[in-house]
Amino acid sequence: MEGTDAIMSKEPILETERLILRPPALEDAEACFSWKSDERVTKFMSYSKNTDISQTIQWIQSTLTDDTDWNWVFVLKEENRVIGSGGIGPSSKLEGYWSIGYNLHFDDWHKGYCTEAMKAIINFAHRELGVKKICSSHAVDNPRSGRVMEKCGLRFYRTGEYTKPDGETFPIKFYKMELE
Ligand SMILES: CC(C)(COP(=O)(O)OP(=O)(O)OC[C@H]1O[C@@H](n2cnc3c(N)ncnc32)[C@H](O)[C@@H]1OP(=O)(O)O)[C@@H](O)C(=O)NCCC(=O)NCCS
Repeated sequence: MEGTDAIMSKEPILETERLILRPPALEDAEACFSWKSDERVTKFMSYSKNTDISQTIQWIQSTLTDDTDWNWVFVLKEENRVIGSGGIGPSSKLEGYWSIGYNLHFDDWHKGYCTEAMKAIINFAHRELGVKKICSSHAVDNPRSGRVMEKCGLRFYRTGEYTKPDGETFPIKFYKMELE
């Protein structure tokens, strides 16, 4: 683990009304593990539920050296508490598009934090990285995620299927949008 902290992250600090978005750091491991180990949060995520904090540390380390995807943790200004994470990176499914992903600690759902954070990330990618085509997908049984997409401006365009690393397969809905 030593030495990794010294790596300069490419992600800048972004600020919204209620949140600070900053690159994940190793000191965030415990906070991130608190939702990455929660089945209610991980059920429809592309990663498997973390059962040991070393998996969370590994994820944070991977973000520190990731040249392709851009990742942030969301810090609630009022409490200086890490409540979730999200990011954007080139889509492996849709040529020319960048895909968004996000998750929040269960206790922090239904307060508008995810949409607030993802709007800032999309705005950054559009203005600073020149990203104009954005996409995502969510499980049919996870409509809350679709609401986040819609509020960020993405629109449903087709259904499909997703198989998690652990083999579980479920129907999904694809969304996309194009910016000027
Ligand atoms: C997906 C996920 C991040 C959505 O969380 P969420 O809390 O529903 O989304 P938001 O942060 O945008 O909050 C939206 C809700 O907060 C409520 N809300 C309360 N106060 C609010 C405020 N000040 N501003 C805006 N919304 C507010 C609104 O009612 C809104 O619901 P609506 O969409 O029906 O209008 C969350 O369910 C999650 O982490 N799920 C597990 C991981 C996951 O599924 N990730 C995506 C995989 S595709």
